[in-house]
Amino acid sequence: MDEADLAALKGKDLVAVLDFRKLPKVLLHEHLDGGLRPATVIELARENGYKGLPTEDAGELAAWFHRGAQRGNLPEYLEGFAHTCGVMQSKSALERVAYEFIEDMHEDGVVYAEVRFAPLLHTEGGLSQDEVVNAVLAGLRRGEKDFGVKWGLIICALRHLSDSMVAAELAIRWREAGVVGFDLAGGESGFPPKKHVDAFHAIQRANFHITIHAGEAFGLESIWQALQYCGAHRLGHATRLRDDIHVMDDGSLKLGTLAQYVLDCRIPLEMCLYSNLHTGACHDLAQHPFGLFFRNGFRVCLNTDDRLMSDTTMTKETILATELFDLSLADLERLNVSAMKSAFAPYGNRLQVIFDTLKPGYAALRSEA
Ligand code: ADE
Ligand code: ZN
Repeated sequence: MDEADLAALKGKDLVAVLDFRKLPKVLLHEHLDGGLRPATVIELARENGYKGLPTEDAGELAAWFHRGAQRGNLPEYLEGFAHTCGVMQSKSALERVAYEFIEDMHEDGVVYAEVRFAPLLHTEGGLSQDEVVNAVLAGLRRGEKDFGVKWGLIICALRHLSDSMVAAELAIRWREAGVVGFDLAGGESGFPPKKHVDAFHAIQRANFHITIHAGEAFGLESIWQALQYCGAHRLGHATRLRDDIHVMDDGSLKLGTLAQYVLDCRIPLEMCLYSNLHTGACHDLAQHPFGLFFRNGFRVCLNTDDRLMSDTTMTKETILATELFDLSLADLERLNVSAMKSAFAPYGNRLQVIFDTLKPGYAALRSEA
């Protein structure tokens, strides 16, 4: 089969032909505390005397997390994190979870991953936030050494709390050691990003990087504030940007000013398909705006959000998107190259992944098929 035949394949044929796990992939949006292995949660609970788990059977625990996260709204989706954070309160637990994250990425065919978390949620055992970050960085470094996956760490502030400046200063303090940016996470409705504007301005003054969860559980106002008050360079989800795009009777699009701005400024949208279904950001994956955005030139990428909660992997997200939106191998390459262009890693490192790993990887797949 030559390149032209392959490019012409419809998504379903591609699913039959390709080993999606081997496809070199880039992940920009995953929560460290949303992607633990169920067996690790149980072992860490035993080691650390955490008593809150509903079961000590790994299969049942996984199913319990999935059920809990799939109730169609973000506040309930986030409830399971009390348990994952509950077992991540020591240096060794944090280091292990970070190390296993990199190992999982390797298994999933991810060559560059940005992972995020809120250090504040890991201080109940007496660690300082600096100790928490240091332990996670140590696990990520050890993982890279063993598995070769490149990474960046993003520090999250939480929308319902008022100490986002502490998180911003922490992110800046650790940038030389592998922290690449700053995010605002947590329940969206009722917690507008502009309340945290001072923290974002501190990040901007430090010439640092900003991504913000916006347009997941709230609409255009949240996306607009994230961009125009808080200076977001990327958006987490942005699913509801769809509300600013009107499909006319002749099939042409009429964009509102916000959607036009996002398109023109090439703002990367970190889209998370399964998570959006589970939190109610989208009720029917076939109607997910990913397809509309991608076909019309928006800079989108595929992500997992919370692998444990949403029972997903990059391989699953990629297969799903390929089936739903009839992606070709060239589309998949474009998606991952544009994800890598949008990474918060330094420019030289981004080019290295694109030209030394992604492009040769896709070229090899084309010649194998
Ligand atoms: N934290 C973990 N997953 C999240 C999500 N989907 N939205 C906001 N905060 C989160
Ligand atoms: Zn998220």
